[in-house]
Amino acid sequence: MASGRPAIAATTVLLLALGCSGSGETGTPVTGSAPPGIASPASTPPAAGPGAPGIGDPDFPTDGNGGYDVEHYGLKIDYNPGAKHLSGVATIRAKALQELSSFNLDLSGFTVERVAVAGGPTTWQQGLVFERTGDELTVTPSDPIPAGTAFTVEVAYAGEPRPVKNSSNLGTYGFIPTRDGAFVTCEPNGAKTWFPGNDHPSDKARYDFEITVPAGLTALANGEMTDRPRTTGGKTTYRWREDHPMVTYLATMTLGRFELREGTTASGIKNLAAVDPRFRDSLDDLYTLSGKITDYWATVFGPYPFSSTGGVVDDFSAGYALENQTKPMYGGFDPDEGIIAHELAHQWFGNSLSIRRWKDLWLNEGFATYAEWLWSEHEGDSTAEQLFRRHYAAGQDDAIWKYAPGRARPDDLFNSSVYTRGGMTLHALRQRIGDRVFFELLKTWSGEHKYGYVTTEEFTALAEKLSGKRLDALFDAWLFQERKPTTW
Ligand code: TRP
Ligand code: ZN
Repeated sequence: MASGRPAIAATTVLLLALGCSGSGETGTPVTGSAPPGIASPASTPPAAGPGAPGIGDPDFPTDGNGGYDVEHYGLKIDYNPGAKHLSGVATIRAKALQELSSFNLDLSGFTVERVAVAGGPTTWQQGLVFERTGDELTVTPSDPIPAGTAFTVEVAYAGEPRPVKNSSNLGTYGFIPTRDGAFVTCEPNGAKTWFPGNDHPSDKARYDFEITVPAGLTALANGEMTDRPRTTGGKTTYRWREDHPMVTYLATMTLGRFELREGTTASGIKNLAAVDPRFRDSLDDLYTLSGKITDYWATVFGPYPFSSTGGVVDDFSAGYALENQTKPMYGGFDPDEGIIAHELAHQWFGNSLSIRRWKDLWLNEGFATYAEWLWSEHEGDSTAEQLFRRHYAAGQDDAIWKYAPGRARPDDLFNSSVYTRGGMTLHALRQRIGDRVFFELLKTWSGEHKYGYVTTEEFTALAEKLSGKRLDALFDAWLFQERKPTTW
């Protein structure tokens, strides 16, 4: 075992690191009825004109963009850690959902050097007109892109990447330079700090990465290496591919010196652990625990949705972790079982099943927190029931009861209530519907929405359907009320 610490300690580490001690503020009164969701791209009514500068998440109005759906990102990036200079060419394949006279990409910082578009009836339109306003890059093709057509946009950009700082309670995220490379953790909207795109979880795509770094450094990205690293002229190029749909905030490229251990888990899933030399002593534990936990989650949540598992520990004192697809990232500490169980559970809840709007974040964090409790129970440490009771003991005035986790707030998205009270919601549900139906529900949920998008309403509807019980009072008390639930 990597650590004798109970899983609950990992939650504490995670939340303290995020500064999520919970705020005592009360928000507007909450009703049980959920806000309207973002329409699925397919149901967007076709309209001619410019694509909207946001994808329609009312809490994050300029995140993502309207009017198109990305299918593939080809990211060719050269980074020099000494100069902190990045130059990139992003080739984005998308489908127009309306006739587009212009469209937006999210991009923060950098100088855009060139934009070209191909698609529809035209071949490449070079040297296009583009405009920068805030974190929006607006591209105006010389001919509009017809509705329903596939098109490709190529953006060449360069400069010093700048992470997002002090946005609400999140600290620093995005592309973060380190001593020997970079640490890239982008939730919720930091992908725009290293590539142009549709930076919102409701537009997944596949990715190819071609990353060039000074020889001697390693570049790790999502998915699998498609070719061996190639070194010429003092630089090495790494090629990676994520061939499963992925949201922008889970895309990563971790650059630096790493020690690697590769193999397969007992059930045959590829496993890659990578650690900064300073964390050399955790390489074997990270590798072994990641494999063992991935295999266990596959028995509880359904087949592992991606082509490999593992994790990365970098020498960056973030003190936090992020569930980057196939390669969760641990910033500056030895991850213990609880946090590994958490980040790997996200591969199902958050990564394969992704939220359409940020207020449903408990579908990611509540599930991953509950997974920590399930792991603890599985290991014969505290049971989920004991962990639930420990949290439920918080007095009526505790901040956790004042924040409704079913409506994560944009100014305090990662509040501990979204994690802990979200996890408690699942335990209350388990008590109510019984273990057999509860665990069937987890598998059905992850199976039915594999690689898709989900909302809270879809989860509560499925829970009612599988249990044959009316659960609206339970979910209302646990997810939507700003007071301590007393019955369920
Ligand atoms: N999703 C992360 C977790 O709970 C927490 C997180 C949110 C995060 N935003 C982040 C981590 C930005 C790193 C960077 O596992
Ligand atoms: Zn999490």
